[in-house]
Amino acid sequence: MDRRIICALDTGDLDEAIDLVHRFAPYVGAFKIGHGLTMPNGLRVVDILREHGAERIFLDLKFHDIPNSVALAVREAAKHGVWMLTLHLSGGPAMISAAVEEAAMYPEEQSPLLVGVSVLTSLDEATLQGFMGVNRTLPEQMAHLSQRGVELGLDGVVCSAHELKVLRPIVGHKVLVTPGIRGSVGDVHDQVRVGDAQTALADSADYLVIGRALTSKSDPVAALQQLGLDPVGA
Ligand code: C5P
Repeated sequence: MDRRIICALDTGDLDEAIDLVHRFAPYVGAFKIGHGLTMPNGLRVVDILREHGAERIFLDLKFHDIPNSVALAVREAAKHGVWMLTLHLSGGPAMISAAVEEAAMYPEEQSPLLVGVSVLTSLDEATLQGFMGVNRTLPEQMAHLSQRGVELGLDGVVCSAHELKVLRPIVGHKVLVTPGIRGSVGDVHDQVRVGDAQTALADSADYLVIGRALTSKSDPVAALQQLGLDPVGA
């Protein structure tokens, strides 16, 4: 098992998700679920997947609301033993602090890791500046929000493989979670800022979120090896 690998369960079909958990649980450290699985099933999906062998669940619902509402969301996630969750850094300092304070109410083993999302990869600089009225460049905005997030007590931030080297000195020992991982050959799908697993780990990613490069393959061992990862693990 390589505990640094988080397998993304990007499906709305619970049976398919359970099947993926059975297949990949011996090889990866955690499973990421989003709106696709949570909307139809509620947070009981966390309990169900755990019963099927998913020891750690990363709840990627990207919370963004008033502080009280986000604190309530963190509370429910903690009650279900969620291991890691995401929230939007653009929700502001009061929202971030409310989430941090709520998570701190739980014993360490039950307190979810809180990871901030700075700028969605689907947004480009023209949209950031023209639509959202931000005066910084996109990398500047990512660095700014990430720094503020960890200063406010978050456990880490999400970033693409391309931003790891810039963000590591900014976030210090906090966690960097990197999606958009692809092999040296193969489809990049809808991802733009992709990187390979070995380089991302060498550039100090703590966790790699990998979806289709794993879940589209029937053999987990071969899928990990194709990404240059050791199925027996690190
Ligand atoms: O299939 P693939 O490896 O591209 O899936 C990546 C996963 O990481 C998806 O669940 C996607 O929603 C998520 N993600 C991402 N880019 C971000 C944040 C999350 O691709 N910036």
